[in-house]
Amino acid sequence: MTVMQVSVLVPCIVLAICGASLAQDVPPYTEDCRSGTYPPSGPTFKGNVSWYTVSLDQPPRERWLKLISDKKAPLLELIKHIRDLANSLFPSGKLVDIVDKILPSLIGNLPSPFDEEMKGVADASGIPLGEIMLFNIFYEVFTVCTSVVAQDSSGALFHARNLDFGLFLGWDVKNNSWMVSELLRPLVVNVKFQKNDKTVFMSTSFAGYIGILTGMKPGVLTLTMNERFSLDGGYIGVLEWIIGLRKGAWMSFLTRSVLENATSYEEAKNLLSKTEMLAPAYFILGGNKAGEACVITRSRRSCIDTWELDLQKGEWYVLETNYDHWKPPLAIDNRRAPAMKCLNRTSQKNISFATIYDVLSTKPVLNKLTTYTTMMSISDSKFEAYLRDCPDPCIPW
Ligand SMILES: *[C@@H]1O[C@H](CO)[C@@H](O)[C@H](O)[C@H]1NC(C)=O
Ligand SMILES: *[C@@H]1O[C@H](CO)[C@@H](O)[C@H](O)[C@H]1NC(C)=O
Ligand SMILES: *[C@@H]1O[C@H](CO)[C@@H](O)[C@H](O)[C@H]1NC(C)=O
Ligand SMILES: *[C@@H]1O[C@H](CO)[C@@H](O)[C@H](O)[C@H]1NC(C)=O
Repeated sequence: MTVMQVSVLVPCIVLAICGASLAQDVPPYTEDCRSGTYPPSGPTFKGNVSWYTVSLDQPPRERWLKLISDKKAPLLELIKHIRDLANSLFPSGKLVDIVDKILPSLIGNLPSPFDEEMKGVADASGIPLGEIMLFNIFYEVFTVCTSVVAQDSSGALFHARNLDFGLFLGWDVKNNSWMVSELLRPLVVNVKFQKNDKTVFMSTSFAGYIGILTGMKPGVLTLTMNERFSLDGGYIGVLEWIIGLRKGAWMSFLTRSVLENATSYEEAKNLLSKTEMLAPAYFILGGNKAGEACVITRSRRSCIDTWELDLQKGEWYVLETNYDHWKPPLAIDNRRAPAMKCLNRTSQKNISFATIYDVLSTKPVLNKLTTYTTMMSISDSKFEAYLRDCPDPCIPW
């Protein structure tokens, strides 16, 4: 019974990928490569992302208190929206019931410190633990994005991403926007994870979410994760986890462990390639030396493909959206070609935060789901994140 309820939710979400009707009447899909968008300003820039510190020396249950007490109001609003949505899909209220009753009983299956950290987030926000867990699971499964690592002519690496989130979770007809994307923006934070008052790694994240989708370990590596749609999709892993087959790692807990523990690009690559996971994913990894960048295409159990920079062949960047790089993207969701066109036009000689921001500001690479843009550079230790918007006319994804 329990499993039935959850499995009904998921297929509607998957089907929505194929629903092209929304996109058909919302021109224009694309625009010419932007230029001069940096430093960020104008209607596609919604503000800077503020910084918080999380001390890994504190007990896991207390680490997030400050951040969550600051962000409690917008977090409550988002969770309420997700709860309302679940209740409108399942008017019996059963789904929320399951989430509130069953998920918390499974928290003990999560590795430390993630179990205690989620309890801490629940304590600080007053939100039931099951809903905090669901909120964390959501990002594992519904993140659509564009990530790129490019090497300039001097050999320096730039790693950047647009985080697009909120697809399938409700289109706001009046506002012509994705409700959840709107509700997420106030939750975006940069977090410095510190030990002994020294920053070990940093991330752009959402308050209440303890895994990592976008992160940098200064001097060592940069890492982003994009969702990979697959028949053997995230929801199957989540379901299996719920019903007790709990072998795989949550992807964003893996990325966090890699940022915390890996001491080299090679070690990170190895961990990201070999650890069994709950759902398929793309990991986009950058190192600290010329040539060190790759896209790892993962199934739940193994590494399907590793695509590395290849300067000899003129491949000075790797770019990943949400499709296997050796296959064409879905026709209704081609962010890859426009991004490549603009990168090619920029050329390796002129690659920088400014020109990468231009690429990530060009529709449809920038779209209505785009919540933030983060740019990272190991060589000059820079990490910048900006809140984004895509005012009409703009493609929904
Ligand atoms: C964002 O930060 C930059 C640099 O610190 C500052 O110049 C700018 O005014 C800030 N913009 C907003 C909207 O806060
Ligand atoms: C539309 O968005 C505005 C601001 O983002 C918000 O105040 C308003 O409640 C939204 N309208 C609806 C119908 O949700
Ligand atoms: C960009 O350049 C790469 C490498 O030269 C080439 O394979 C690709 O087709 C180009 N893509 C676009 C969209 O121009
Ligand atoms: C390099 O990029 C900058 C924008 O940052 C632009 O103003 C400039 O014209 C570009 N230079 C070349 C040679 O394309």
